[in-house]
Amino acid sequence: MEVKEQIEQLRKDLERHNYNYYVLNAPEISDQEFDRMMRELQDLEAAHPEYDDPDSPTRRVGSDLNQEFVQVPHRYPMLSLANTYNKQEVADFYERVRTGLEGEPFEICCEMKYDGLSISLTYEGGRLVRAVTRGDGVQGDDVTENVKTIRCIPLRLRPGAGYPQDFEIRGEILMPWTSFEALNREREEREEPLFANPRNAASGTLKSKNSSVVASRKLDAYLYYLLGDEIPGDGHYENLQAARTWGFKISEAMRKVKTLEEIYDFIDYWDVERKKLPVATDGIVLKVNSQRQQRALGYTAKSPRWAIAYKFQAERARTRLEAVTFQVGRTGAVTPVANMEPVLLAGTVVRRATLHNADVMAQLDLHIGDMVYVEKGGEIIPKIVGVDKEARGPQTGAKVDFITHCPECGAELVRYEGEAAWYCPNDTACPPQIKGRIEHFISRRAMNIDSLGPETVDEYYRRGLIRNVADLYDIRVEQINGDDGAREKSARKIVRSIAASTEVPFERVVFALGIRFVGEIAAKALARHFKSMDALEAATLDELLQINGIGMVIAESVIRYFRDDSNRELVDRLREKGVRMELSPEELSAHSDKLAGQSIVVSGVFSLHSRDEYKAMIEQNGGKNVGSISSKTSFVLAGANMGPAKLEKAGKLGIPILSEEEFLKRIEI
Ligand code: IVH
Repeated sequence: MEVKEQIEQLRKDLERHNYNYYVLNAPEISDQEFDRMMRELQDLEAAHPEYDDPDSPTRRVGSDLNQEFVQVPHRYPMLSLANTYNKQEVADFYERVRTGLEGEPFEICCEMKYDGLSISLTYEGGRLVRAVTRGDGVQGDDVTENVKTIRCIPLRLRPGAGYPQDFEIRGEILMPWTSFEALNREREEREEPLFANPRNAASGTLKSKNSSVVASRKLDAYLYYLLGDEIPGDGHYENLQAARTWGFKISEAMRKVKTLEEIYDFIDYWDVERKKLPVATDGIVLKVNSQRQQRALGYTAKSPRWAIAYKFQAERARTRLEAVTFQVGRTGAVTPVANMEPVLLAGTVVRRATLHNADVMAQLDLHIGDMVYVEKGGEIIPKIVGVDKEARGPQTGAKVDFITHCPECGAELVRYEGEAAWYCPNDTACPPQIKGRIEHFISRRAMNIDSLGPETVDEYYRRGLIRNVADLYDIRVEQINGDDGAREKSARKIVRSIAASTEVPFERVVFALGIRFVGEIAAKALARHFKSMDALEAATLDELLQINGIGMVIAESVIRYFRDDSNRELVDRLREKGVRMELSPEELSAHSDKLAGQSIVVSGVFSLHSRDEYKAMIEQNGGKNVGSISSKTSFVLAGANMGPAKLEKAGKLGIPILSEEEFLKRIEI
């Protein structure tokens, strides 16, 4: 096959697999196979820039070139919908439509109201040419490059699907709950400010100047409104079903109904079921289905008369603020917490809500005894969204100020440049910081000492048994078996599981130390690179910065950690207790650099190991898997039936061909 055809075929196949995976949720091939094809295409495109195509699936990985957003006008203004909050208002809408249409029969399309940010996509000749945010409704930001990285948005429509030549389609860009939670977990680990809800996260992501950030954040999109002069039929519902066949992701949670009762049924059903959806929704949208009837009903200055939004009950409550307390975390960050009269909110009793940080607290202007509004929207932790200032009276207490000293140890708080939080700097003697570090050390993904929990850590700390993580290994059964040895069995279990943690792999030990900014991924990279604690302790800033994924913040933090005598002492004590301080021989052999810097093509059918196993071996030995043979290929690992074209090419370029046996010999220890 000609290279050009090969590239085109790969692009077509990858787009189809993209569609199967991201739109239909029904992948046909494994992720590894997909990645392999993608790499093959990337290699071919790199070798043949003459066949460049801005719509290639490889573009979906984004670029880290900074971009400025250009403001562009909307062809049709992006209006908003009138909101309703109860069924009576829905009935009023239904009645207005009926009179407006002078008794003519009509249908209503019921849809979910997705809680993300709205986007307008323009397609010309089946190609995505522009993606624009809502902006002020008249003009918005051109975010085409970023939107191209969202896998469920088609860059090219399905050929022969019967889409109009020019049209616009609008919808909502969303961050699924799972991506949102993962993103916040990562940010927490890196101690970056968290996103309050998926909408803010999606919006922050889409406005990123760096499209590779957008690509990494896993956004989703549902489309719900077609515009243009050649939209196929009169029915909105039917048009959206057609748009699904063109390649768009159209919600299944959609129903065409006639009566008010059916509308209520839809609302009641989805008010409960929506909690199972992968993305955030905040209501229902009702649209008159016929476009002819839509035109007859027309618009007010702000919104269409043919549609409304019904907003689900905001999960908000009003209660009294009793006190503000300040919590000190493992890193010393101080978080203000509102303590309130208990109130029922979204099915649970709420007593505490976060106030985030000093700035948020100051903005609320809280006084003790204030009546406050608490919300639990997309957020996981309830938060205070406002104060009922009208309800203030003589009994209202004093204004709440942020504290200046640590409530736990009395140290004066500090604020680091560019950070919203105040910190207690007394990391070696402030109890919650010590206990927090121990809790981190024993956690499942660190040393996995699962017989201990926060309560036991607290108890042992209070009894003076532990002051740091190394003390854990000195605990004896007699110290913790309770009065008259009543807890003998659990005490033995605890001592045993602490001892067993010395088997935990080195990379998790690095993570368990709790070096600031060193999350699981960074810990893994450090462990694999330096291979031992001694080497890591001795690392220079330059050496650290050489490692993929380690930037200045992490590198400086590692240096700071090991510069501190008490940390080095702690590591030495852990070493004495038998905690792993280096990669095990198996890990070392599994991660050699025997193939470092080599690009290897795997081709053909194998008998001793599978293709994927060979690819893993290549990576574990520091090599790189590439899809096609070029002058840069170091060697080809060939099984049976390697294609003649590949053989010939390797021969022409003088690239060595290794059999399975030869390859295995090469990576042998
Ligand atoms: S239709 C002219 N359908 O809600 C009507 N909007 O206040 C065009 N939204 O800005 C909008 N889900 O971002 C429509 N199924 C849905 C929707 C939806 C969410 C958002 C959209 C719009 C806002 C309306």
